[in-house]
Amino acid sequence: MQAPTLIVQHLTKRIGSKEIVKDVSFEIQPGEIFGLLGPNGAGKTTIIRIIVGLIKRTEGKVMIQSFDLDESYKESMNQIGAIVENPEFYKYMSGYKNLKHYARMSLKNITEERIEEVVKLVKLEKAIHNKVKTYSLGMRQRLGVAQALLHEPSLLILDEPTNGLDPQGMREFRNYLKELSQSGTSVLVSSHLLSEMQLMCDRFGIMEKGVLTHISSIEETDVEGEIEVAFTIDQADMVKALDVLGQRNEKSKEMLSNKLHVSILYENIPLITKELVLNNINVYEISVVKKSLKDRFLELTKEKEESLV
Ligand SMILES: Nc1ncnc2c1ncn2[C@@H]1O[C@H](COP(=O)(O)OP(=O)(O)O)[C@@H](O)[C@H]1O
Ligand SMILES: [Mg+2]
Repeated sequence: MQAPTLIVQHLTKRIGSKEIVKDVSFEIQPGEIFGLLGPNGAGKTTIIRIIVGLIKRTEGKVMIQSFDLDESYKESMNQIGAIVENPEFYKYMSGYKNLKHYARMSLKNITEERIEEVVKLVKLEKAIHNKVKTYSLGMRQRLGVAQALLHEPSLLILDEPTNGLDPQGMREFRNYLKELSQSGTSVLVSSHLLSEMQLMCDRFGIMEKGVLTHISSIEETDVEGEIEVAFTIDQADMVKALDVLGQRNEKSKEMLSNKLHVSILYENIPLITKELVLNNINVYEISVVKKSLKDRFLELTKEKEESLV
């Protein structure tokens, strides 16, 4: 197996007495699209700024293509292409001239062929010789990505790339990131939109007040809306209950001798309860032990909005 493109271990950032990133760890594999999902102020941009070397971390370790960010700073940076905040361009120059200008400043020798290659990759062939001031926001984003890709980085980092894009633009952007990752480039992307992350990423983690929780793959989040429900039943009925649910193909497990946990949709609680009761199993208590990813995330963002009021 290849080494991960990015390894982040126990990353912490303190500013004054405030910990804005707390013990964050994750890895990104070659060709993987990994997302940081979280409401405003969660710490996403801070993590990205640390990885691209714009600010220093307080604690932790960052490895990019097996290069240590501190020990091999230049080599690490050579592996990264990033758009943090809005990419700046010379508006009165064409997209092509902007890329050329950027290529001249690069440490690497970037050929005309490479410029044409990235232009094709971000599908800007038609407009590349027009002035940037005529570009839509989506086109500027794509020009930004083209610029970030010029030196063939192994890791592309994008902070809230779909901000300001319309649904059509978002769809195109997603497809185009998928294509890119299929050619082996890893992507780290941040967003405050759950639906966006679910569509775009192979895996993503939720950032909440500086803490990264709930890293999950898209397969896991595919069962959208499922929650974990605990049914308290007689200990003697446990085997029977597991069997009843097994026959219905429900995912269930015994947690305590009298607690049966089932992953189901909220609206199926009555159905499962009925099934148990019809099989002569007494149900004493029903409680939700784990909310769905979506519910948890909505609560988080709501909490944040309220605190802004
Ligand atoms: N230079 C700084 N000084 C003090 N606080 C900061 C600084 N940069 C970011 N913060 C705070 O850290 C938190 C995380 O910010 P940020 O990483 O921008 O979050 P996100 O990108 O998820 O919206 C916020 O509460 C923000 O106000
Ligand atoms: Mg941010």
